[in-house]
Amino acid sequence: MKPSPMAMRPWQRAVYRALRALFEVLCRIVWRMEVDGRDRLPATGPYVIAPVHRSNVDFAVVGAAVPRVVRFMAKDAVWKVRIAGWFVEQMGSFPVNRDQADRAALRRCEESLAQGDPVVYDIRYHPFQTSTSDMALGVSTIYPGKVGDEYHMTKGHFHVRMDQPEIYFCVRGTGFLLMESKEGDFQVAEWRPGTITHIPPQYAHRVVNTGPEPLIWVASYHLAAGHDYEPIIARGFAKIVVEKDGQPVFLPNPRRPNSS
Ligand SMILES: [Fe+2]
Repeated sequence: MKPSPMAMRPWQRAVYRALRALFEVLCRIVWRMEVDGRDRLPATGPYVIAPVHRSNVDFAVVGAAVPRVVRFMAKDAVWKVRIAGWFVEQMGSFPVNRDQADRAALRRCEESLAQGDPVVYDIRYHPFQTSTSDMALGVSTIYPGKVGDEYHMTKGHFHVRMDQPEIYFCVRGTGFLLMESKEGDFQVAEWRPGTITHIPPQYAHRVVNTGPEPLIWVASYHLAAGHDYEPIIARGFAKIVVEKDGQPVFLPNPRRPNSS
């Protein structure tokens, strides 16, 4: 039987494991990384990891924290630097085009899971047509948890087409939708199952899971809207959502000293 193109060769898995072990040592010494709950990860069989994605290196930290070989769905821009694309591919990553319906990436994701490998990221995306003049429907999940005191959240983005709005429909779980314009107008919508929120044009948006269960929502937007993550990576939102005495509270973003 012909092997799946997604199958990793034994030497690739050996190199992955060696690099992973080295990086874990680095994380523990330099950044004092601690891993809680590693023993609860399945020792065999596929599963999906949906980490908080706040920087361009957090995928590697996730890889260091998970003892098995993990397959990464990575943005296709990585493959524009040939050596970088070659390397991450040898380590089991595969590209996804985040600006359109990338069915090939989803198929690779399914093939990886079928081989029993864990996959990082939970994305389900459905364009109604292949034309960029049509609508898209996405279903996203944030699993419960915190990094330090800060609740799990999405990376957050503006739309490339700033005139494009979006509709979110909360299906399960509880949390908050943060919205902020480039001029600094900050708004919050509290979410529970059934909440529908209209994200106006010009507003960045981020979802935060403050509840004990997965927060799942449906997003409807124009295919031409596009996603611009860079301003959020650089500045975050005006407020962060942290746990205090068991409750979510909003604090000024310490990276933005003028926020209040
Ligand atoms: Fe959006």
